[in-house]
Amino acid sequence: MIKSFYKNNSLTLGILGGGQLAKMLALSAYRLGLNVAIIDKEAGTPAGDMTKLEFTKGWENSSELDKFIEVSDIVTLENEFIAPEILEYIAQKRQVFPSAKTMRLIQDKFIQKSVFAENNIELPDFNAIASIEDMLAFGKKYSYPFIVKTRTLGYDGYGNFTVYSESDCKTAFDKFQKPDVKRDLMAERFIDFQAELAVMVARNKQGEIAVYPCVESIQKNHICHKVIAPARISKELANKAKEIAVKCVKVIDGVGVFGVELFLTKDNRILINEIAPRPHNSGHYTIEACYTSQYENAIRAILGLPLGSTDMLLNGACMINILGEKEGSSIPVDITKSLENGKTSLHLYNKKQSRVGRKIGHVTAVANSVEEAIENANDMVKKIVW
Ligand SMILES: Nc1ncnc2c1ncn2[C@@H]1O[C@H](COP(=O)(O)OP(=O)(O)OP(=O)(O)O)[C@@H](O)[C@H]1O
Ligand SMILES: [Mg+2]
Repeated sequence: MIKSFYKNNSLTLGILGGGQLAKMLALSAYRLGLNVAIIDKEAGTPAGDMTKLEFTKGWENSSELDKFIEVSDIVTLENEFIAPEILEYIAQKRQVFPSAKTMRLIQDKFIQKSVFAENNIELPDFNAIASIEDMLAFGKKYSYPFIVKTRTLGYDGYGNFTVYSESDCKTAFDKFQKPDVKRDLMAERFIDFQAELAVMVARNKQGEIAVYPCVESIQKNHICHKVIAPARISKELANKAKEIAVKCVKVIDGVGVFGVELFLTKDNRILINEIAPRPHNSGHYTIEACYTSQYENAIRAILGLPLGSTDMLLNGACMINILGEKEGSSIPVDITKSLENGKTSLHLYNKKQSRVGRKIGHVTAVANSVEEAIENANDMVKKIVW
């Protein structure tokens, strides 16, 4: 029998970070009768705007962090860039998930990949890089192209550089070794994949696990463009991907919801790319397409509640990200036409400022077939007037 965390009190979920993932977490939290507190380093973030419990000086500011902890009953996060020491500090007073221990295993991509390799989870060959010579040696051993990645703080491909030849090694090294900021690097073999897959896994405090369908994730310029659920691959491969994803979450003793990004190679092997310790872009579709969204299951998981079904309600879903095309407002000029197809959902994050390539919204279509979902999602995106 699970003891209820609620105990007749109104609970406040504290979220580190106020972006769109926090906003969608908050929407689920409110539905479950929780309050939400947000801490970020600026005011007016998508989630900060939703609550009176908004803390705007960031978690690095200790008095601000203390105030945030004070009003929160339990704490979670929406990005992986929080120092484990901060999580440990919070954990002295409040439960926090994912734990500092989990974050220490995955925050640095080189450590994360080493942990998976030690646990016999297949992934692209990789190595730590400390010099241009290390890169040249990597290229010699595994051939070109290969990918150089910053070990920490990478997102939407910003920490990645594809090295096509020996002469690119210096360019890649210099890009991340500016006199003021020197970044730890790793190199990874380039995978000429047939598809990128992703699996969301929820795991609660008791170790109960709920796995979402394996989806296809299509990137443009290293940024997620489209997600198709379920992935158009065999049942065997989808099950294999789900097994790997669950193993990854167990290995890092994850509690919460986790996004596992995978490569499907041309010879049908499944390799892990990376794991995100939070709701993930590839799981946005679960809001409309599944019995229980990734956001709700994240909350259930950290509260130690039973996880909801991850089954899809209809046969197919398609999510398309809306990226900023210029500086300025993140709100379209007109959405009327785009809403005419009543079976597709529009999400606008209401970011204060749009930038080229910034994620400012998404659309999700759920339909009787994957093809119909793709068509409806494309149609909605096309009809938004900017
Ligand atoms: N080894 C690889 N071989 C081929 N393509 C890769 C490789 N590593 C990364 N990529 C491409 O770059 C994209 C982004 O890479 P990665 O996931 O490492 O970056 P990130 O910036 O941490 O992630 P995210 O885009 O998930 O925020 C991948 O989804 C994939 O399309
Ligand atoms: Mg990634």
